[in-house]
Amino acid sequence: MATSTSPDSSMPAELAAPYGNGPAASAPGPDAGARKPVAKIRTHHLHQAKLKGERFAMLTAYDQYTAEIFDQAGIEVLLVGDSASNNVFGNETSLPVTVDELLPLCRAVTRSAKRALVVADLPFGSYEVSAQQAVATGVRFLKEGLAHAVKIEGGKFYAETVRAMVQAGIPVMAHIGFTPQSEHALGGYRVQGRGDDAQRLVDDAVALADAGAFCVLMEMVPASTAAAVDAAVEVPTIGIGAGNATTGQVLVWQDMAGLRGGRMAKFVKQYADLRTSLSDAAKAYGEDVRSGQFPGPEHSF
Ligand code: KIV
Repeated sequence: MATSTSPDSSMPAELAAPYGNGPAASAPGPDAGARKPVAKIRTHHLHQAKLKGERFAMLTAYDQYTAEIFDQAGIEVLLVGDSASNNVFGNETSLPVTVDELLPLCRAVTRSAKRALVVADLPFGSYEVSAQQAVATGVRFLKEGLAHAVKIEGGKFYAETVRAMVQAGIPVMAHIGFTPQSEHALGGYRVQGRGDDAQRLVDDAVALADAGAFCVLMEMVPASTAAAVDAAVEVPTIGIGAGNATTGQVLVWQDMAGLRGGRMAKFVKQYADLRTSLSDAAKAYGEDVRSGQFPGPEHSF
């Protein structure tokens, strides 16, 4: 990949630097010759990351402030996941969420993130019927949701769908392995691609990448299977419960930051305890109001 001075063609070494405060953004000094961090992450930057043996991070985001915070923290890819169904809308699974419910969330995220690549999930029922249906829904996410790319769940059966979407100008991320929209068909949350089943996932990934998917995401597959998939495709891979051989990793932000309560999947690492912080803040506020401590003179006109 040729280098140039345009921000979009910067090499991936700078991809992970949060904009504005990375070394390359400093005033002239020892780093004066360094290239600027990528101003806007594009699909080709993720591809370059894989070629260079570098990694990138993806988090879900469903609203303005998380999009802004994660973007400024240098997270390269934001996913407006259909997991909004069970993390925003209060459903038990990802199945009930609709296109019309996800589009406004997607718009909020895309408007608020200046640098990250924003990928939107096509929800259950919005792409399975035909390639035409998938193209029509994908167009809505790019046009009305302002997304930069979309993600669909499913294996090689969807290769022709992916091809049609890519030909229509819609970048597609493929999601294989455990696909939550098929939770009932798969018999619950179960690791996919164990033992002899590993080849099925390799075949899925190869077919989807050949059809034009710019990235393959794998959920809940053994690390060895994910490594075999990653080795079989040129495009970058992303893992969630798929070990450490993928180019990128993704987590649902409420799991990553400890906002959601209850049992966490084995693959989740929690980096904060927002649930306790928010609960403590709400309790303190409630007590202050009830005791007459808030508002004080400093909060009054
Ligand atoms: O919707 C979502 O959050 C996802 C992740 C699990 C990858 O698809």
